[in-house]
Amino acid sequence: MTEELECLAPLVLVVDDTASNLGLVVDFLEGNDLRVSIARDGEEALRRADLVHPDLILLDVMMPGLDGFEVCRRLKDNPRTRAVPVIFMTSLSQTEDKTAGFHVGAVDYVTKPLQMEELLARVKTHLKLGRLQKTLKEQNARLQEEVRSREAAQDALIEMINSVRNTSNAIAHDLRTPLTEFRFRMEAMILDLKTKVDGETLERLEGALSDIDRVIGIFNALLRLAEIDAGVRRSGFVDSDLAHIAAEAVEFYQPLAELRGLALTLSGPESLPGLVDPLLLAQAIGNLIDNALKFARTQVHVHLGDADGLIEVAVADDGPGVADAEKVKVTERFYRGDASRGTPGVGLGLALVRGVATLHRGTLTLEDNEPGLVVKLALACSPRHG
Ligand SMILES: Nc1ncnc2c1ncn2[C@@H]1O[C@H](COP(=O)(O)OP(=O)(O)OP(=O)(O)O)[C@@H](O)[C@H]1O
Ligand SMILES: [Mg+2]
Repeated sequence: MTEELECLAPLVLVVDDTASNLGLVVDFLEGNDLRVSIARDGEEALRRADLVHPDLILLDVMMPGLDGFEVCRRLKDNPRTRAVPVIFMTSLSQTEDKTAGFHVGAVDYVTKPLQMEELLARVKTHLKLGRLQKTLKEQNARLQEEVRSREAAQDALIEMINSVRNTSNAIAHDLRTPLTEFRFRMEAMILDLKTKVDGETLERLEGALSDIDRVIGIFNALLRLAEIDAGVRRSGFVDSDLAHIAAEAVEFYQPLAELRGLALTLSGPESLPGLVDPLLLAQAIGNLIDNALKFARTQVHVHLGDADGLIEVAVADDGPGVADAEKVKVTERFYRGDASRGTPGVGLGLALVRGVATLHRGTLTLEDNEPGLVVKLALACSPRHG
């Protein structure tokens, strides 16, 4: 409907076989800024309603041919006229007509002889209700359309993320082997040159070697995440001792902690059996310790616990912590906080830990340690035996 039509006064279709009654109602409604269309019998009413799309129908009950009830029934059967509110004009004596009118879909009734002010009040109320209903319907349709388009955008985004993921996985996969070969050739070359070149050149060569190690490390992490996503890694699950895995990780990082003047400690049971992927878990705990050692001021503490059928590994530090708004973001792939600028790393560490948590039907949570951060890795990994 055009805006011009929308601005017109509401249109009421008055249906009555009594000319005097019809004239009276038409004059009164027109005198109150409403547009009026008329029909003198049921058949004409159905044709008119279909043609002029009234905003409301005033319908006489007693008419020769189709009576008001039948007309109303047919109006409600026609999808083009179904939504138009119908008010019956019924004589005072026929009280049963009122309920019958509601049964066939009328919204209201007025009694004859008509009280014009009452008629106008009811007409206006139902016009207003009709308009509100129409607005609601339109808003609903718009909302549904918005939901549909958002869902489509989300699907497109997921598809895009997956395709980027697949591409980066493919690159990592194809480049890892030649890079690893190159790394070993270079290492052999450095060994050969050790006695032949000066200290500065040797240092630069070793620097290049550790750059390649970093790239290989990134590729390994990406490929591991890809395996976790694909569910392939569950084949690596074996009965293991988590206390042993954690102790080894702490031992591995001890020299680095000492170098940075930080205390790195471990607490928890001597033995903690669980059905896990030990290689992935060692890497996950290592990543958490690696992060904590980057940010801690004086100490990093690793605690192992066993509660409610879950095994928990908590790594706590006394560094600057992570703001609440960033706690979810830091577990996304390649996300690095501002504080990490200039420090080594690519932002895959926590993404991998989260992947490992998911693989073990567990969770990864970041909490404030006041001061610092405590990262908790909870794992559902009850051992197969015992
Ligand atoms: N213990 C921590 N204290 C403060 N911020 C942290 C801590 N651990 C992680 N973060 C923040 O989370 C970001 C993401 O960590 P993540 O381990 O995923 O990547 P990274 O350490 O920057 O690089 P990578 O682990 O791939 O070498 C970090 O850049 C840092 O901003
Ligand atoms: Mg990290």
